[in-house]
Amino acid sequence: MTRRIFVLGATGTIGQATVRALVRRGFEVVCFVRPRSSVRGALGPQELVRLLPGAQLRVGDVTDAASLARDGFAGEHFDVLVSCLASRTGAPKDAWAIDHQAHVQALEQARRCGVTQVVLLSAICVQKPLLAFQHAKLAFERVLVESGLAYSIVRPTAFFKSLSGQIERVRRGKAFLVFGDGTSTACKPIGDDDLAAYLADCLDDPARRNRVLPIGGPGPAITPRQQGEALFRMTGRPARFKQVPVRLLDTIIAALDVAGRLAPALAEKAELARIGRYYATESMLVLDPATGRYDAAATPSTGTQTLFDYYARVVAGEAVVERGDHAVF
Ligand SMILES: NC(=O)c1ccc[n+]([C@@H]2O[C@H](COP(=O)([O-])OP(=O)(O)OC[C@H]3O[C@@H](n4cnc5c(N)ncnc54)[C@H](OP(=O)(O)O)[C@@H]3O)[C@@H](O)[C@H]2O)c1
Repeated sequence: MTRRIFVLGATGTIGQATVRALVRRGFEVVCFVRPRSSVRGALGPQELVRLLPGAQLRVGDVTDAASLARDGFAGEHFDVLVSCLASRTGAPKDAWAIDHQAHVQALEQARRCGVTQVVLLSAICVQKPLLAFQHAKLAFERVLVESGLAYSIVRPTAFFKSLSGQIERVRRGKAFLVFGDGTSTACKPIGDDDLAAYLADCLDDPARRNRVLPIGGPGPAITPRQQGEALFRMTGRPARFKQVPVRLLDTIIAALDVAGRLAPALAEKAELARIGRYYATESMLVLDPATGRYDAAATPSTGTQTLFDYYARVVAGEAVVERGDHAVF
């Protein structure tokens, strides 16, 4: 019998790729989406039908348990819940509503509908949780582990889109911005389709069951400075780096924290600045708890897509960077 997969977050960068991977593997895929999707609600149901071929779309509100039950699961049987759902901003209220609460509700409904396995897209940065969205993700990871259902919690390193925000700057002859000298952090970037394949393969790989799975892309770890150097090489521009001191971010965060006591919107901005600081100072690699150091060799790799191949395609006009709310620059 064809297994039925209920997918959350199907319209996001990794969600779209994951739906493609699941459909390709022959699963029956049902995606629960909201009436307007994508960055700033750019896409309606008609566009989504074209975006997610081979999958069934159901429209509703993932934050509303009644809608999830009525419009989503609709009392039918499902085998697996796959979630690429995540707050688009990482702002604390939204993160707790989406990364935690919506998932808790979905898990409850899924279990009622016969689901026995869950594949969850998380993030490698939750291994050192300093931010609200990381705590929200971890809180749901714990609920999932304790649920008794089979689980694969996939914690990827950085996505290509999050490392591509400066391509346009470099193309226009501007300097590449780095924090410090641009060599104090590194990551093993992972391509959308490689990550999607990894997620889809969790369904049938017993070695990925009941495991927390950090995962990066192929090749050695890359620093921000190396990203800049590659872009200067590809665009034929002379290498020019501008160093941004981390204490500039600290000053901005402190000012927004003070202002945020009066205006909640500014408190939210302070958290977004904290997110920026986190990615400026922490590597997206496995953290060795014994030494407290990031370890590239201990970070598993999958797939074939490399960040620099992706840069080359963007520079050649063959790929377009999706600029979402998670972008660092
Ligand atoms: N960016 C990185 O480098 C990176 C690295 C490692 C891990 N991650 C993690 O990977 C995960 C997914 O990333 P992504 O880039 O694929 O995410 P994304 O493109 O921002 O997509 C988020 C998905 O969640 C849905 N969503 C958000 N808020 C919603 C709401 N209120 N109601 C219904 N649906 C909602 C979005 O639906 P709409 O289209 O309707 O908005 C979309 O389908 C996140 O957990 C992120 O932390 C990211």
